[in-house]
Amino acid sequence: MTVAGLARGGEPSMGRVAEFYWNLAGKKTVLAVTGLVLYGWIVAHMAGNLLIFLGPTTYNGYAAFLKGAVELLWAERAVGAVAFLLHILAAAQVTVANWRARPVGYVVRRDVATGYAARTMIWSGTLIVVYLVYHLMMFTFLSTGPGYSETDVYRNVILAFRVPAIAAVYILAMVVLGFHLYHGVWSMLQTLGFEWSGHRRIVPVLTALTVAGGFILIPVAVMTRVIR
Ligand code: HEM
Repeated sequence: MTVAGLARGGEPSMGRVAEFYWNLAGKKTVLAVTGLVLYGWIVAHMAGNLLIFLGPTTYNGYAAFLKGAVELLWAERAVGAVAFLLHILAAAQVTVANWRARPVGYVVRRDVATGYAARTMIWSGTLIVVYLVYHLMMFTFLSTGPGYSETDVYRNVILAFRVPAIAAVYILAMVVLGFHLYHGVWSMLQTLGFEWSGHRRIVPVLTALTVAGGFILIPVAVMTRVIR
């Protein structure tokens, strides 16, 4: 019997309810662990991209190093892609489970809070996927955007962010990413059972601000001609 069935007043079975929570907990653990891997990936990507402040030689040298280190590149891509796909699958399943658990029976009441967070996360997550397609078309497949150089990645980024509309899309996407990370890190810490005595919001807030802020520095620096 589903939880919706229980909520409608069917005969409760503790085994089934326990199984439901066990499965949901399993999916949330997959979400948390893959989220952590993706978070590590994104911090590394941000750190690499901040090398742009050291000039074209360093930034293009870093891009050339990554392209040359074929095993490392494909290992990083494989880990990122598997984590990304598992994250999306688990997110979709947790969201559907939360939607199904919406009826007002007392058994499901305590899931309402996570249901709200999950609904926010699924939309910010979807926007990030849309952004990612646009981003890969621009800088990896070089099929859109004002810069098309295979080797001068620095110039591709500068030319792109000199277009105010492109810079605005990126800044907006980073704000959405910041919100996603804020909720994501919060849930991940809960799921993985981290406990700390300080302010409970401090880690999620700092995570979101560092990643979103670090990326946003780049289009802002290009628009203000700090880097050119
Ligand atoms: C200001 C922000 C960003 C800049 C300037 C930037 C820059 C770049 C550049 C230049 C590349 C192509 C590298 C190359 O082929 O040599 C790239 C690839 C990529 N970026 Fe970004 N990026 C930014 C933000 C993001 C964000 C927020 C994400 C994820 C949500 C992301 C995910 C990726 C992925 C998945 C690739 C493909 C990596 C690969 O082919 O191995 N980027 N980025």
